[in-house]
Amino acid sequence: MADKRDRRVAVVGATGVAGQQFIAALDRHPWFRVTALAASERSAGRSYREALTDAKTGARRWYCDEDPSPEMLSMPVVDARDLDLDACDIVFTAVESDAARDLEPRFAKRRPVFSTASAFRYEEDVPIAVPGVNLDHLDIVAAQQKKRGWKGFVVPLPNCTTMGLVVTLKPLLDAFGLRRVVMTSMQGLSGAGRSPGVAALDVVDNVIPYIVGEEEKVAKETGKILGGVAGDRFAPHPVLVAATCTRANVREGHTEAVQVELEREATLDQVRECFLRFGSEFCARGLPSAPQNLIVLHDDPFRPQPRLDREAGGGMSTSVGRLRLDAAGLRYMLVSHNTKMGAAKGAVLVAEHLVDAGRI
Ligand SMILES: NC(=O)c1ccc[n+]([C@@H]2O[C@H](COP(=O)([O-])OP(=O)(O)OC[C@H]3O[C@@H](n4cnc5c(N)ncnc54)[C@H](OP(=O)(O)O)[C@@H]3O)[C@@H](O)[C@H]2O)c1
Repeated sequence: MADKRDRRVAVVGATGVAGQQFIAALDRHPWFRVTALAASERSAGRSYREALTDAKTGARRWYCDEDPSPEMLSMPVVDARDLDLDACDIVFTAVESDAARDLEPRFAKRRPVFSTASAFRYEEDVPIAVPGVNLDHLDIVAAQQKKRGWKGFVVPLPNCTTMGLVVTLKPLLDAFGLRRVVMTSMQGLSGAGRSPGVAALDVVDNVIPYIVGEEEKVAKETGKILGGVAGDRFAPHPVLVAATCTRANVREGHTEAVQVELEREATLDQVRECFLRFGSEFCARGLPSAPQNLIVLHDDPFRPQPRLDREAGGGMSTSVGRLRLDAAGLRYMLVSHNTKMGAAKGAVLVAEHLVDAGRI
């Protein structure tokens, strides 16, 4: 008998770095069946296999650890502007912001859209969804639908650098309050996407000390996600967030050094305890893409490391270590998977939450 949570889903931007992670997250999903793939006109009219393959060299440009299934590779790719909304119940999008601004409203007229792009993140009727952190913000989509006359909606995820940060800040906020956060990131290369991406000659043997627009995004999104909803408006949390975002010679996974000034005094044991407990109710629901723990804590002072820890909880747990309290405040390092929790699989988990709750 069919599961009442069975849904047909489309992936838009399926050929890109985040789009490929959607394919990996959905390929054998117990509820969601991929019925349509879309990308730019460059890929349209080809099979997914052909669209991924460099015509000159024959190299397949596939960036996930998990291979796509033969069924997925033989699916046709359509131009995103021609996506048949009758063929899907849910749309996942992974395109650059300019394309998203044009495409997502077209889809949202009729279908729920879960997006990795920043196009709508900062609009007053649009939540930025983080699994286990602020899913109550999703209530605001009713106002979005009413205001825009949409049957569906747009729900973006945060920037991949914001993701690990807010997962660790939320339990601290709830237990001790937050005054100030200083964060320095060392971000994986896949976070820059496939095109234009990061040139190997620039990044090998190097750290790039600036990522355009990233620091502002982290500050703005953190306040919105950690804030509340008053009626049909967001009330951002006033915490001061000072971020320095850098690109490191790491394939996948964002590492962040975090320093937090708490509002109320805390001991290390209390902090440890609140990290360990965080999200247990959400994870216990057993949603297909949810990890066992939102936060994995390390005592080994040489962890977390992106190579060892990005796949924690299937790429959905934030790994935390180097926890210490000193005159500078509470300090720790974290590693979060930027294309899984920080993009595609995180979006799939938000959709699972709404489907499981009978809301879509
Ligand atoms: N990479 C990450 O870690 C990450 C994390 C969080 C959020 N994001 C966000 O996810 C989005 C995609 O990023 P990415 O890293 O996956 O980029 P990417 O590797 O450059 O892939 C871009 C995708 O968008 C498609 N596309 C480009 N222009 C289009 C158009 N006009 N209409 C329809 N499709 C179009 C491309 O299709 P073709 O192959 O046909 O060109 C490709 O599938 C961005 O908004 C990014 O900020 C990325």
